[in-house]
Amino acid sequence: MGFDLKALPDGFTDDPYPAFAALRETAPVCPQPDGSMVISRHADLDRIYRDTTTFISDKTRVFAPKFGTGTPLFAHHTTSLVFSDPPLHTRVRSVMVGALTPRALAAMEPALVALVDGLLDELTEGCDLIEGFAGAIPIEVIGNLLGIPRDRRAPLRGWSLAILGALEPVLSPAQMAAGNAAVTEFLDFLREIVADRRARPGNPETDVLTRLIASDEGGGLSEAELLQNCIFILNAGHETTTNLIGNALWLLDRDRAARARLLADPGLIPGAVDEVLRLESPNQFGNRLTTAPITLHGVTIPAGTDLHLCIAAANRDPRAFDDPDAFRPERRPNRHLAFAGGPHTCVGFSLARMEGRIALARFLDRYPDYALRPGARRSPRIRFRGFTHLPVALARPTERT
Ligand code: HEM
Repeated sequence: MGFDLKALPDGFTDDPYPAFAALRETAPVCPQPDGSMVISRHADLDRIYRDTTTFISDKTRVFAPKFGTGTPLFAHHTTSLVFSDPPLHTRVRSVMVGALTPRALAAMEPALVALVDGLLDELTEGCDLIEGFAGAIPIEVIGNLLGIPRDRRAPLRGWSLAILGALEPVLSPAQMAAGNAAVTEFLDFLREIVADRRARPGNPETDVLTRLIASDEGGGLSEAELLQNCIFILNAGHETTTNLIGNALWLLDRDRAARARLLADPGLIPGAVDEVLRLESPNQFGNRLTTAPITLHGVTIPAGTDLHLCIAAANRDPRAFDDPDAFRPERRPNRHLAFAGGPHTCVGFSLARMEGRIALARFLDRYPDYALRPGARRSPRIRFRGFTHLPVALARPTERT
């Protein structure tokens, strides 16, 4: 089938789902001109995520020709948790998981509610919901997690977007340069923050940076690993969560009947968050590299093949979900793969769900009649699905009477 990740038609991101469905139904293992393959069925992704012997995450071989081995982007992406295998993966992951326990999350909730309410207070008629709301929440949450002083957070969002943008299948020289500059500037920034935290440690129960430093001092992480993984946490938790919240507000603008059900029964909101994650997955593609030849759906995949795992297609696989293209907040069970699976399952999934739940609940409570205005703009990215602009008419209850 003629699906080439590196040559998608203009406007592909407006509605990629018919192409993903065709891929999943007719070419579940789809060879690409560069030798990589796209995998798109739910059961296949589920199996691949769990088998970390045959399908590894290390991307050194893939990123060397893409970024060049001496570049900041190469150093960053090959040191971060998500693109590593044991033993680095095990060491770093255990430190992060320890800082995002249910207890730590419960302790964060009141500040998150206050943050969301404060942002809602600031929204004005016609404002952009990404800039003023969906994009602002995760930056503050991760800024708190790493203990980055509030008045120094302004550049974080731009750095994060530039570094993650470099993971797109096709990159312009300008995007490459922006990504490299962002890694360098971010590292300089973090060196200062880390030195300060070494001198004045935070609460290791909730402050991920203090935990990472403690493990670094115990011989667990090198300085480079420490800094690169701080960058990674911000990147991992920022654009994805912004997209979750933005995609939710967009879906509930289109589906007023679902919105009415959530307003009548806010207990449906956690299920709605998962349904947004399934239907409009913020992270549409993952990757793995094969270590041995395997045969899948009659296609032989050689060892050393870069696999693109199409989460977005898998999450609408009719073999795994009834009526898969419908938005159904009541869906149970909802075994989507928006947070991947197996040993690399998203470390921040509970935090992301909490952010999504609180953002949606507080927003709907304050602006039950909101309506998006013309002018919504989607990010042209293929890997991450979300909006860069969502202008809104808030229709405050007080203004309606
Ligand atoms: C809606 C929001 C989010 C989505 C959709 C999402 C999605 C994902 C996915 C699909 C992976 C697996 C990547 C792979 O192995 O191929 C992942 C990994 C990861 N995510 Fe998230 N994520 C979200 C939010 C967050 C947040 C808020 C944080 C942290 C504060 C976070 C931290 C991480 C980390 C550390 C990993 C690496 C785990 C590992 O390799 O062991 N994520 N995420």
